[in-house]
Amino acid sequence: EEPYAVKTLKPDDFNGFIMRLGGTVLGTTNSRNPFKYTMADGSIVDRSDEIIAGMKKLNIDAVIGIGGDGSFDILSRLAKKGNLKFVGIPKTIDNDLSMTDLAVGFDTAVAVATEALDRLQPTAASHDRVMILEVMGRDAGHIALHAGIAGGADIILIPEIKYSIEGIAKKIKDIKRKGRNFALIIASEAVKSPEGEKMQVVYHGGEKRYGGIADFLGPKIAEATGSETRVTVLGHVQRGASPTYNDRLLAHALGVKAVDMVNEGKFGHMVAWQKMRAVEVPIEDAIKECRTVDPKGSLVYTARSLGISFGD
Ligand code: F6P
Repeated sequence: EEPYAVKTLKPDDFNGFIMRLGGTVLGTTNSRNPFKYTMADGSIVDRSDEIIAGMKKLNIDAVIGIGGDGSFDILSRLAKKGNLKFVGIPKTIDNDLSMTDLAVGFDTAVAVATEALDRLQPTAASHDRVMILEVMGRDAGHIALHAGIAGGADIILIPEIKYSIEGIAKKIKDIKRKGRNFALIIASEAVKSPEGEKMQVVYHGGEKRYGGIADFLGPKIAEATGSETRVTVLGHVQRGASPTYNDRLLAHALGVKAVDMVNEGKFGHMVAWQKMRAVEVPIEDAIKECRTVDPKGSLVYTARSLGISFGD
């Protein structure tokens, strides 16, 4: 009659297999809010007390939560309500948590997006095309910016920098004038239409997710430049690779630090990666704001200096 499933992890479970996998091996969810849980009949119920009671019954001393701002927000509310002790480990491909230079998963997602540009370039060059790659990142353009530079994009579109179709067309025409017959564009999913309209897809049950900016831009760029244009939406492919060595190192460093913090009784904090060190920061500071791309930051400057356009 136990309402929950329990898996006991022992040091032997970390024998080199798990670190090579993407996704969650625990079977946890990143989209069910226990305070507003949708039941099978569609009703919405607050089930937080059941979770708190379950934790108490299992004699759990502390929770190490691995996730992004949404997960940490829920975890802090559960902690407050049920007097639970927890430590957070940042994990989101969006890399939008403030206070940590990196979150686990970002490096791998950027590697996948970079490889996608590598794989689009030959077709672009062979058939004189403009290729638009749409990548994830929610409200932050980090994946597009990093992969765009690393993968040799000509134009990087991110929600933090306003673009215009004319700006994009001008760059493509410049490229053609200089004798190159193709162009690569990387667009972050949260980029809006030039009129400021969000591009979203409504899924079953009414849930909305970003998506559609590349399909929206494709015909407009084709019309403005006379170029043949093709669109690729990378989607969840970005979340499933075997982690890069950087992500493995980061996960190990943050995991070790999180266990140290539990042993030292330091709760209500997130482990952060700052200047190549694992440090602790108060969870409220970590989720206070979404860290977006700084348009005046070093990487935007780097991209512009390399001749990459932001369509502005
Ligand atoms: O937050 C991670 C992320 O992959 C975003 O980049 C993306 O917008 C979203 O999740 C997709 O959500 P889902 O997996 O629910 O479709």
